[in-house]
Amino acid sequence: MRSLIFIFSFFVAIVIVSCESDDTSTIRNGYNDIYNLPETPYNYSNPSFPNTFTPYVFGFDNTPSDNIISDDGVTLGRVLFYDKKLSSDNTISCASCHKQEFGFSDNTPKSIGVSGEHTFRNSMGFANAGFYAAENFSWDHQAATLEDQILIPITDELEMGITLENLVEKLSNLAYYEPLFINAFGDSQITSTKISKALSQFVRSIYSYNTKYDRGIEITKDIFIDFPNFTTKENLGKDIFNGKLTPGAIGTCITCHLPNSTPLHFDQPIPENANQVIFSGAEPDNIGLDIDLNVEDNGLGVVLNVESFYGHFKTPSLRNIALTAPYMHDGRLETLEDVVEHYSTGVLAHPYLSAHMKNGEGEPRHLNLTPEESEALVAFMKTLTDYELIIDEKFSNPFVN
Ligand code: HEC
Ligand code: HEC
Repeated sequence: MRSLIFIFSFFVAIVIVSCESDDTSTIRNGYNDIYNLPETPYNYSNPSFPNTFTPYVFGFDNTPSDNIISDDGVTLGRVLFYDKKLSSDNTISCASCHKQEFGFSDNTPKSIGVSGEHTFRNSMGFANAGFYAAENFSWDHQAATLEDQILIPITDELEMGITLENLVEKLSNLAYYEPLFINAFGDSQITSTKISKALSQFVRSIYSYNTKYDRGIEITKDIFIDFPNFTTKENLGKDIFNGKLTPGAIGTCITCHLPNSTPLHFDQPIPENANQVIFSGAEPDNIGLDIDLNVEDNGLGVVLNVESFYGHFKTPSLRNIALTAPYMHDGRLETLEDVVEHYSTGVLAHPYLSAHMKNGEGEPRHLNLTPEESEALVAFMKTLTDYELIIDEKFSNPFVN
């Protein structure tokens, strides 16, 4: 028996030694007490997009040529995304405000950052951010690229509150980052550029294409035909969203949230490349949430210093919208029902209200939906939820504690 144990231990020792000589698995296995990462990294770099995504995958990808997604790059980005060490007092990670279960948003109007401070705006969810138009990140479009956007919360006093120099120094002293940086970038030297690149890769790798809507469009290939997998109510909501009930009237939801390169109208040919990948166009807009300029946050107008853009904010993606309440740049609307009520009866005559939000007389246009129609529109928006994404382990918190 004793000799058996001896032989067994010997065998175990050999296995350990041979594992150690296999560089990548040694590198990954070194810190099992800290994070739980798979032996071979998950596949992030080669997603199987549905055909309906194809025009976007080839035409609208905002990946810069010097930051192509790699499985090891995203793995590093995932650890960074969930690491509270990225904040000055080790209390806040990106995931504190961007929670997977809430479509990478959170469930409060203003999020809590370092030292309990509240953010200026409502946290934004993301999926398919790799297809957001350039110059189109954050509520006021302040960031031109995802790589730029990523560094803003790190140094923001209300969010993570740490200088990039301090962050680089701090991470350089955390041994568990060494193998991750080597795997991702070929050497262990940590720089803020690499941090931003890896985090951007992680955010970009969060693709969503497993919603009820995606299955429907795959079947009909036409957004204006009833989806056979939808309920009657969801199809009615889709018709309202797509302006089918208000022929001739520009400015239903589709105008801003589902545009494509050519004007979209229900009686036009199949808008194959309508932007159902992100349900948002590149245009910021003013949807009449306020009556005048006398408000705390005037959005894009302040960034551009152009008064006619006051009250203009990013047209947000509607993917996973049912998970990202509360809504709007300041989280003022609690539910999707409240959002629909705004478009139905609540649009205010802001001096710079979008032309798409006005009727023929230049007044705020109210959709005046019946209760059934309002319910249907909400039901439609719920078909944009990707239930697989929000439990997908490869985007989850890798830390053991
Ligand atoms: C304290 C909360 C908080 C933290 C921490 C935080 N964010 Fe954000 N995030 C926000 C808010 C609020 C916005 C909207 C900012 C604005 O428009 O002013 C935002 C916007 C974004 C956007 C833009 C999305 C879009 O649609 O344009 C991305 C991407 C993003 N954050 C990624 C990250 C990453 C990566 C980290 C970690 C480095 C991070 N965030 C940390 C709250 C936070
Ligand atoms: C004129 C362009 C435009 C039209 C038309 C429009 N939207 Fe929006 N939508 C926006 C903008 C811009 C915002 C962000 C406004 C803000 O926060 O100040 C927004 C915000 C939203 C939000 C909240 C998103 C979030 O993350 O908080 C939802 C939901 C929404 N719209 C759904 C709809 C529906 C449904 C319709 C049709 C009834 C519609 N929109 C019509 C531009 C538009």
